[in-house]
Amino acid sequence: MKSKLLEYLTCKKCDGKFELKVYKQDGAEIMEGSVCCEPCGDNFSIRGGVLRMLPASLSEDKKQTAEAFGYEWRKFTHLTDKYRDQFLSWIKPITSDFFKDKVVLDGGCGKGRHVYLAAEFGARDVIGIDLSEAIDVAFLNTRKFSNVHLIQADIYNLPFKQVFDYIYSIGVLHHLPDPKRGFLTLTSHLKPGGSISAWVYGREGNWWIEKIINPIRIGITSKLPKIITKFIAFIITAPLQLALKVIYRPINKYVNPLKKFLFYNDYLYSISGYSFQENYSIVFDHLVAPTAFYIPRDEFQTWFDEARLSEVVITWRNKNSWRGTGVKI
Ligand SMILES: C[S@@+](CC[C@H](N)C(=O)[O-])C[C@H]1O[C@@H](n2cnc3c(N)ncnc32)[C@H](O)[C@@H]1O
Ligand SMILES: [Zn+2]
Repeated sequence: MKSKLLEYLTCKKCDGKFELKVYKQDGAEIMEGSVCCEPCGDNFSIRGGVLRMLPASLSEDKKQTAEAFGYEWRKFTHLTDKYRDQFLSWIKPITSDFFKDKVVLDGGCGKGRHVYLAAEFGARDVIGIDLSEAIDVAFLNTRKFSNVHLIQADIYNLPFKQVFDYIYSIGVLHHLPDPKRGFLTLTSHLKPGGSISAWVYGREGNWWIEKIINPIRIGITSKLPKIITKFIAFIITAPLQLALKVIYRPINKYVNPLKKFLFYNDYLYSISGYSFQENYSIVFDHLVAPTAFYIPRDEFQTWFDEARLSEVVITWRNKNSWRGTGVKI
């Protein structure tokens, strides 16, 4: 944690400002220490360079979600150059120039792949928050940036007022017990005139995931020891990767009229250029999460309406997910 993070923090209990205690520092990075709210005495530790703001106990569903993703991102720690285009596609129509000098929040940053990019795009400061131990991987992945700050915290309970110019949340809200409440909580931290982008699984186009994969995920794979789920993901990824490389990619590139016969083509083609490791992590992600909602477009729209956002743009991505951006009035 860098001391600059204090500028953005406010105590949730009493609106007080935090005082910093440093026990171990490495350059600008405070590796061990604590922040304490003077007026009410609320106290949080800094461990391994990350500010830890989780409550003493989490509800059972959040605990399982944190375990699943903590495991996932500690196994799939890599960053690849494919993430840049993927990120920009998830937050479209926002572009990389938009980040310049903005104060940005990543709501559920996982291993920090988008925090890395937001920092590189020139954000003044990027704050990544995540419930799980993935935050430690995010710390290692973004260590070189002086404008990155990481907090292990619950999206529903963040220590901020309206301090952000831009907030994005990619692939997180559909894993919350109440996705809309997560979105509305994030918008409450936007400055007036600030923007938010969210990307969620769509109900439309995903009938087979809802009908076939979901029951397997809920009843079996999210409950198995993670190592076994990882093995199942490997068994699925091997033939999938072969099909992507020898069927989906060549047909879409060279025999375009035939693509209409391919199952789930828009999405599968979009991941057909990825490495085995990347697609392995995508498959594992779909099997391991204890909570996942598939959001209909109409419902997604109501999130933006209830947050009273303007300039709302909602588009279908790869015919299986929704991305939306809006501006706080
Ligand atoms: C599918 S991952 C996406 C991570 C990242 N946005 C990305 O695209 O690489 C979902 C992330 O949401 C986090 N998450 C789930 N519930 C959360 C909560 N209540 N508060 C904060 N983060 C949460 C998980 O720990 C996990 O890292
Ligand atoms: Zn306080």
